Amino acid sequence: MAAHPLRHFLRLDDLTRDELEHVFARTLIIKDRFKRYELYQPMRDRTLAMVFEKASTRTRVSFEAGMYQMGGSVIHITTGDSQLGRAEPVEDSARVISRMVDIVMIRTYEQTKIERFAQFSRVPVINGLTNEYHPCQILADIYTYIEHRGPIAGRTVAWIGDANNVAYTWLQAAQLLGFRVNVSTPPGYGLDPRLAPAGPHLVVFDAPLDAARGADLVTTDVWTSMGFEAEDEQRRQAFTHWCVDDRIMAAAKTEALFMHCLPAHRGEEVTNEVIEGPQSVVWDEAENRLHAQKALMEFLLLGRDVT
Ligand code: CP
Ligand code: NVA
Repeated sequence: MAAHPLRHFLRLDDLTRDELEHVFARTLIIKDRFKRYELYQPMRDRTLAMVFEKASTRTRVSFEAGMYQMGGSVIHITTGDSQLGRAEPVEDSARVISRMVDIVMIRTYEQTKIERFAQFSRVPVINGLTNEYHPCQILADIYTYIEHRGPIAGRTVAWIGDANNVAYTWLQAAQLLGFRVNVSTPPGYGLDPRLAPAGPHLVVFDAPLDAARGADLVTTDVWTSMGFEAEDEQRRQAFTHWCVDDRIMAAAKTEALFMHCLPAHRGEEVTNEVIEGPQSVVWDEAENRLHAQKALMEFLLLGRDVT
């Protein structure tokens, strides 16, 4: 079914730097056409299956709208309404689903699950968030940075908060694209070295204010990610001081941007003033999920042979 060599997007570094730059360049073109109501439908007769084992607003809407806008169609599957929730092996699901559709997006728990699916899939598989990574998010985030401030290489990103899937993907991006991430997490919630290898792209700070100092971009995420709800109360105590507020933004460069993958909890990881303030680009960031993922699906299904 796939006309091009089979490629998956399970981690951000499944694409090379050059391929990511191609996707960013295509995002610009695809977004511009969309804004001008210019029809671009290279996905006619193509079907995307989306498998959600966790909740979603942005990921679902952006993939679904994106595929329809490109002329294709979409099937939405959840654990509860499919045999996935009744213990059909993921390898069997992969073999069946991938014989019927052209591309699959999965949001699930362990990264190993999406890897097992991909191993048995005949078509490209996209990671729509796992416990370990959220590569589609960082694709959109970096595109948003480039759109507002130009190339991200050589810049400094401050990550304030939980060592989670979004943080680990930022670190992967930093290694691949040549920028630095200053990370500050509460005691007991530090980075897992298996997911965050040391290197010049990563600098760890105890105090969030120190991590933000001189940063070009400040970003954070919820204190409790999906799947970790049992730890919620304990995390509320531990994360109290890991809130991006005006003081933290003032420590960053004056032209620094604020990003958040959303959904946000105002008054927890970010204040209302910061997320609604002039440095916040969270709505552009969310919108760019649509454009960046259209460029990603185009790359995975059609390669670079596009107009
Ligand atoms: N940022 C993000 O992935 O949002 P959803 O959980 O709404 O998809
Ligand atoms: N880290 C969050 C991101 C949600 C988009 C989570 O995994 O729940």
